[in-house]
Amino acid sequence: MSVSDTDLMQAWNRVLKLSNLQAGQIVTVLTSADTHPQTLRCAIAAASALGARVNRLDLPPVNAEKSLSRDSLAYLGTTPLTGNTAAIAMLKASDLVLDLMTLLFSPEQHDILSSGTRILLAVEPPEVLCRLVPTEGDRQRVLAASTLIEGAREMHITSGSGTDLRCRLGEFPAICEYGFVDKPGRWDHWPSGFVLTWPNEGQSDGVVVLERGDILLPLKEYVNEPIRLTVQGGFVRRIEGGLQAEILKSYMASYEDPEAYAVSHVGWGLQPRAQWSMLAHYDKESHIGMDGRAFEGNFLWSMGPNNEAGGNRTTACHIDIPMCHCSVHLDGKAAVIDGVVQDDQGLSRAAARAAMKGIL
Ligand SMILES: [Fe+2]
Repeated sequence: MSVSDTDLMQAWNRVLKLSNLQAGQIVTVLTSADTHPQTLRCAIAAASALGARVNRLDLPPVNAEKSLSRDSLAYLGTTPLTGNTAAIAMLKASDLVLDLMTLLFSPEQHDILSSGTRILLAVEPPEVLCRLVPTEGDRQRVLAASTLIEGAREMHITSGSGTDLRCRLGEFPAICEYGFVDKPGRWDHWPSGFVLTWPNEGQSDGVVVLERGDILLPLKEYVNEPIRLTVQGGFVRRIEGGLQAEILKSYMASYEDPEAYAVSHVGWGLQPRAQWSMLAHYDKESHIGMDGRAFEGNFLWSMGPNNEAGGNRTTACHIDIPMCHCSVHLDGKAAVIDGVVQDDQGLSRAAARAAMKGIL
């Protein structure tokens, strides 16, 4: 269903206020061929109404001929900003960049952030943005989870399907994605609501067994039969299963890059308004799967680069895998048990669901 410009402008207004946009600040809206026109016009209107000076920078798309997917996260590294010093200068001179194009995982993004410019990515469909408007409560919950990660030296992930993965931590920081950019130099993604970090280089070992209902991104498919991934020394060394496993292997092999198989970020979802079932309703090309990445209690792990965290891996291939019904322990202390986040919100929602069991 479509949303009205009024509703989307109100959503932008809330996000921009949470992002501390002040009258007189310079906002640059970064767009490309796939930018949603309603998201664009409402962003410009909302920022202007708050007194900002608003520019638009429109850049031609790149990488389509290299990618097997139309998803903007399916081919990373080079962007329309690569080598484009004039465009980079414009973004660095802005207080806030609204990225309606997708700069993620690019060195140019780091360069722009280092100047103090804050960047907010927003490319999901307008109705998804309106449903998942972030709150200060989201920020506090994600920050609390990040504190758990910052203090831990090992993340241990298990599941009833046989997952048993250990990741050593400490080399890389915990990253909070709560959907707005309230500090200079901060990047975030609206919508989101999860915490993540990267394992130490070469220090992830074990097995991940995907089961029915887990999600493969950017393929945007629910897993329909078990897939077993064997992890040794920080890399996925074997992928075994049926047709979906073969498709995943073939897709990753097309990049011809061994770094594609490195374990990338690991963390868990904390956004109760994001829905696991959303993927069943949408055309694959209409969204990038943020409900799947953020739904409360998932274990979200990935394969691919770690340059977002300051590492050296810059592979163009990136696979995100949100899993259901996992348990996540940090130095032996439970953060998630069987898909239930072990904080006040998570436990009270689990209790409410249990009370519904006799009805549904
Ligand atoms: Fe990812």
